[in-house]
Order: sequence, then structure tokens, then C-alpha cells
Amino acid sequence: IQHLYLVRHAESQFNLEHRIGGDPSLTQRGWEQARALARHFQAIPVPFVFTSTKKRSQETASILIEQQKKCIVHALPEFDEIHAGICEGLTYKEIAERYPKEYLARKKDKYNYCYPQGEGYASLYERVYRGLKKALFLSGAAAGTMIVGHQAINRMILANFNFRRTRNVPYISIPQEQYFHIILTHRKKMVEMVPIVP
Ligand code: F6P
Repeated sequence: IQHLYLVRHAESQFNLEHRIGGDPSLTQRGWEQARALARHFQAIPVPFVFTSTKKRSQETASILIEQQKKCIVHALPEFDEIHAGICEGLTYKEIAERYPKEYLARKKDKYNYCYPQGEGYASLYERVYRGLKKALFLSGAAAGTMIVGHQAINRMILANFNFRRTRNVPYISIPQEQYFHIILTHRKKMVEMVPIVP
């Protein structure tokens, strides 16, 4: 049996300001969430942790990594959040004001839409699955593996285990104070949502 823990990074400064993308650090509340995550996993072995290359992902994992007895860490660019191109650093309100056509186009077909000079869900597919394959290969079949990803990334990973229609994938709820526990056996996959109680 392989246990995969799919965690979203804790609250970042941009989350607080409703800004997308960028490379912000955690807020004070985010650091508390990171501590809660570490405590939650104190008695659960996580020998492999995969983060993105972004600060909010690495900071979220940092306390847990210190507290685990044995833990190998990889930062994979494949797990970096969707790149919003010309909309990086903006709020959704600012996008609607500055780029109304883009805003509407995304609303109409969020899965296939691609930000100018950036990415979309459909275009993320390839790199996210490359990352997932890498993570599962590096951690080996028997291990407890954690991925500390981002909203769009975790939606794509989850969709791989829990089949959804592609057009629904960009709307899957990925809360910050819960994680998805994905249990893989030879015969089946199970996904449960677990609240992070310290
Ligand atoms: O708001 C946080 C965030 O991770 C952004 O960086 C990213 O652009 C967004 O979520 C992805 O979610 P959605 O596809 O719903 O805009």
C-alpha cells in the first residue's frame, strides 16, 4: 500500500490580498498552519516530501521536514503553480477590469483557457503528470509520500486519481486546512479528505 498525502501550501501573503501567482511567503496564520501540519504528522511517517520551487510550498513543508525522523526532500518545478502570464500578481477583480476579454474567455472555458504568456489547465497536464510520475518513482512503492502543491496543481493531481470530467477539474475545492489522503493498492485507489488537526 502506498500513502500519498496531497497538501496545499498554507496561507500566503498573496492569498490574503487575493492576488494570484508570484512567489510570496506565508503569513503569520500560514506559519501556524504549517506548524499544525507538522504536529498532525508527528506520528505518521513521511519519508518523502515533494514541494514546488515556490517559497509558500517550501515554507509549509519546512517544519514538518524538521520534525520527521527520516525525510528526503525534493523541490520539483513540475509542481509550481499555474503561471498566469500577464495576469501574475493581479487580483481577479483587477483582471476583470484590465483584461475583460481574457476574464470572460477564462470564465467560459476555464479548462482550455491559457493566460497570454502563461499557462492553462489543459497546458499544465503534461508537466504535472511528469512531476507526479517522478515523485512516485523517487519515493518507491511502499513509502508515505507528501506533495505540498498549489490550488491548480493539486486539482490536476487529484483528477488523476479521482476521475472528473475535465471541465469540472478547475473548480475542485482545494482547502488549505485539509489534505487529500490517497491510498494506492494494487487493486484500487481511495481518496479521503482529512482535516489538519494538530
Ligand atoms: O489564488 C491562488 C492560486 O494558487 C493562484 O496562484 C492561481 O493562479 C490560482 O490559485 C489557480 O486557481 P484558479 O484556476 O481557480 O484561478
